[in-house]
Amino acid sequence: MGTARVVFDRWSDRYSKRMADVRSSAVRDLFAAATRPDMISFSGGMPEIRRVPIDSVIAAATSALRDSGTEALQYGSSEGRPQVREVVVGLMGEIGVRVKADDLVITAGAQQALDLVAKIFIDPGDTIICEGPTYLGALQAFSAYQPNVVCIPMDDDGMRTDLLAEELKRLGQRGAKFIYTIPNFQNPAGVTLTPTRRRELLDLAREYDIPVIEDDPYGRLRFEGGHCLPLRALDDEVIYLGTFSKIFAPGLRLGWVAAPKPILAKFLLAKQAADLCGSSYAQVTAERYFADTRWRKTLQTLTSAYAERRDAMIAALEEFFPAEAHWTVPAGGFFVWVEMPSFLDLKSILAEAVERGVTYVPGDAFFPDGRGRNCMRLGFCYAEPAKIREGIERLAEVLEDRLELYRAFAAAGVLPAAPGTTDERG
Ligand SMILES: Cc1ncc(COP(=O)(O)O)c(C=O)c1O
Repeated sequence: MGTARVVFDRWSDRYSKRMADVRSSAVRDLFAAATRPDMISFSGGMPEIRRVPIDSVIAAATSALRDSGTEALQYGSSEGRPQVREVVVGLMGEIGVRVKADDLVITAGAQQALDLVAKIFIDPGDTIICEGPTYLGALQAFSAYQPNVVCIPMDDDGMRTDLLAEELKRLGQRGAKFIYTIPNFQNPAGVTLTPTRRRELLDLAREYDIPVIEDDPYGRLRFEGGHCLPLRALDDEVIYLGTFSKIFAPGLRLGWVAAPKPILAKFLLAKQAADLCGSSYAQVTAERYFADTRWRKTLQTLTSAYAERRDAMIAALEEFFPAEAHWTVPAGGFFVWVEMPSFLDLKSILAEAVERGVTYVPGDAFFPDGRGRNCMRLGFCYAEPAKIREGIERLAEVLEDRLELYRAFAAAGVLPAAPGTTDERG
């Protein structure tokens, strides 16, 4: 991976205290390491953009300039163009959520929406509730505002609402600023919150009067099983974060927030302070793309490709991974979560894996407190099925080497201590 150079920073006493808690994204650091041509990357969550027909995007982008050039190159309104918000109204309607254009603010991806959430809701020391593990970009956005992050463990049915109930009871009425959840094909765990648990979560949120933030980038990437209604479809007080990144292209940096009016007004103010307005050009391009192209067919092609890769990964895990490993089987999205025995430190093994030409993200990146080192996130979205098989075989070899050592220790009755605290997921 190369040796990190320590650079003396003579401005280090000038930064705000809040920046001290913001960790660099392990994934982004890994991208640098993953550029070797023979590297098989399971570390990223990048869509298979090559399958989006470039000609249709060129047509949309050209039409944006040719037919609406003066608007596309001008500042726009902070809430986003009415036309693109109408596109979102249509998309939300298809997944069972009734919203009006006035209920929406367009953001620079869901990531900006997360940053705005943090800015709007969090004061230092506030408690917020997330799944454990959770999206590391959310942890990054939230941590700048110095919250106390409480992670609720998950199982195959998503967030454990029984444990959420216990936590809320402990915290008391309005004891947390919000509950953040990724109900569909969770990043990183790959699991989906069941309809029953969706109801339970909403009931608890109502009972304790706590806003719910639903982050749903992967909901339309379902491989099998029926569509689950979003939380926002069941309760119109839910703050819903959507994105064009996985159904069109992340390079456009377009997402949206649907929220109750008073909260939306805060989003609008925060958005104005952040960047005045989103890219008009990107918005017009998206409008043209969704109006003029066969985007549903493209989405279907993408989803089938991801499903094939999920299958390839699960088959390879079954074939090559040691008996001690447990993994989730996602019904959609991009990620499989693997859990190893608690004494195995997958962070320390990463360098070895990279040496052998395969990358993953160690599980602790998805916890605020160092837990999860015996876990890893494997993204199956990017590599071809044959490469996935090869990569999992390589990774299994690295794990086997370490496990042999541990098995020998175990046989002698001297197991080394677990690194950090172990993941609590069942
Ligand atoms: C759960 C989750 N939320 C938000 C984002 C950010 O997406 P966007 O590209 O819309 O900023 C991602 C990106 O992968 C994600 O996985």
